[in-house]
Amino acid sequence: MTRASLEKQPKDVAAMFDGVAEKYDLTNDVLSLGQTRLWRRAVGQALDVRPGERVLDLGAGTATSSLPFAAAGAEVVPCDFSLGMLREGKKRHPELPLTAGDATRLPFADGVFDAVTISFALRNVQDTDAALREMRRVTRPGGRLVICEFSHPTYRPFRTVYTEYLMRALPPVATKVSSNPDAYVYLAESIRAWPDQQALGRRLKDAGWVRVAWRNLTGGIVALHRGTNP
Ligand SMILES: C[S@@+](CC[C@H](N)C(=O)[O-])C[C@H]1O[C@@H](n2cnc3c(N)ncnc32)[C@H](O)[C@@H]1O
Repeated sequence: MTRASLEKQPKDVAAMFDGVAEKYDLTNDVLSLGQTRLWRRAVGQALDVRPGERVLDLGAGTATSSLPFAAAGAEVVPCDFSLGMLREGKKRHPELPLTAGDATRLPFADGVFDAVTISFALRNVQDTDAALREMRRVTRPGGRLVICEFSHPTYRPFRTVYTEYLMRALPPVATKVSSNPDAYVYLAESIRAWPDQQALGRRLKDAGWVRVAWRNLTGGIVALHRGTNP
């Protein structure tokens, strides 16, 4: 069974997600101690979609992250480059237009979406800055972006406990609930190597997003970054 390295070769990342697709959502719920649902609700509130708006959910995996937007009446397009995740998503949500596509070369025309969102996926994209520019290209002027990603806990003693959890407790727990426990070693490593809230905010600005801001969830374990396409 494969796992990606911090080089994040697209072939390895896609293969790793193909391998965990079937149990992906269950494993998520267990390892996040149920927090995923709260985080998804916060993304829904942050993007604040109106009925009929066109929304791209990038790195959508099995499309669980797309459901709040469909429920709000948006036309949501879940897009991912792991065919295994897309297949699993199609089984569960046949009504959604799941689409194969790479975040750095999106198969959409310029400015076709009112809003773009990406949950727990930007960290896995090899060229983060290319993905941030590509998301802007497909968003209409005035359209918005919300990124939901693991980040850096802000309270130092908690950050230490959390890092211990990631590096020590998470891999053995993953052995019990995941079809590919090695994937969760990559998860821990990639979270530690990911830029903090401020650094990611700067990268959004460099990619041309304006009105960039962020909000911490669960003490900064997760951060929601937002931006607007000028
Ligand atoms: C951790 S899952 C998140 C799935 C979903 N958004 C959620 O919140 O449950 C990350 C997803 O990002 C996808 N991904 C990673 N790099 C990608 C890329 N360059 N283009 C498209 N999808 C990508 C993976 O295939 C995987 O399905």
